[in-house]
Amino acid sequence: MKLIVAGSTGFVATEVIRQALFYPAVTSIVALARRETTIPQNVGPDADAAKLKSVVCEDFGNYPESVKKELAGADACIWLIAVTPSKQNKMPWGEVRKICLDYTVTGIETMGQMPRASTDKPFRFIYTSGAHSERDPSKKPWLLGDYCVMRGEAESRVLGYAKKSGGAIEACVAKPGLIDAPGRTGMVMNAVRTVGCSIIGLPRVDVSEVAATLLDQAIKGFEKETLLNEDLVRIGQKALADQQKDS
Ligand SMILES: NC(=O)c1ccc[n+]([C@@H]2O[C@H](COP(=O)([O-])OP(=O)(O)OC[C@H]3O[C@@H](n4cnc5c(N)ncnc54)[C@H](OP(=O)(O)O)[C@@H]3O)[C@@H](O)[C@H]2O)c1
Repeated sequence: MKLIVAGSTGFVATEVIRQALFYPAVTSIVALARRETTIPQNVGPDADAAKLKSVVCEDFGNYPESVKKELAGADACIWLIAVTPSKQNKMPWGEVRKICLDYTVTGIETMGQMPRASTDKPFRFIYTSGAHSERDPSKKPWLLGDYCVMRGEAESRVLGYAKKSGGAIEACVAKPGLIDAPGRTGMVMNAVRTVGCSIIGLPRVDVSEVAATLLDQAIKGFEKETLLNEDLVRIGQKALADQQKDS
């Protein structure tokens, strides 16, 4: 399958690409970002680096023909472009909204209209959101309320667009809690994160589990419309165990 990883320079995307490089079912990867994507540093010897093509899109509100040409024929997209909560107060709110919401909607609309080699299967679009994103504005969370409701609106718009596509597009929303990676933070920071997560009731998941789930679902189809943190842990652990058996 031809897979698009949008936001391919980011933390989660780097792990998705690392795993996809030795996943035989993925025959080509379009690494889509606003700057060049390089091969992840920790790829194993079995990785097929020739599958990766870095595609730069300078404006995700307006895809040039050269970028559309690279997207044509894709079977699925894992969407990982966003401004994360820790970075969102460093830029104007309008910019955060444009990147998290407008770019996502333009992304699914653009990719959904691309020509495909086979139309017997729908184009699969996975939107990676967050555990506390809220689709119902009347249930605005006390913490990062506007941000969580805006991310929830993006979830609804993605799912709504797919529903209106007459079966041409299938969409799924993944809602991870705090995403951990071994060695990403020191012991003190890790302890602070653990306390912070328990206060706000945020579950945790390892980046390898999130990436394995996103790949598994893009390749095999969606188990359900919304994947909660517990689903990402469960599906991810099984997919990682299967990867081990096959290697
Ligand atoms: N990390 C977590 O703990 C966590 C937890 C729950 C949910 N999530 C969700 O998982 C997804 C991926 O998160 P992540 O941690 O991998 O994020 P990340 O490392 O910050 O990566 C974000 C990606 O979005 C791109 N991006 C940001 N602003 C852009 C712009 N103006 N135009 C084009 N691209 C832009 C970045 O490009 P550059 O590299 O060029 O900046 C990067 O490729 C997000 O939806 C996030 O909300 C993450």
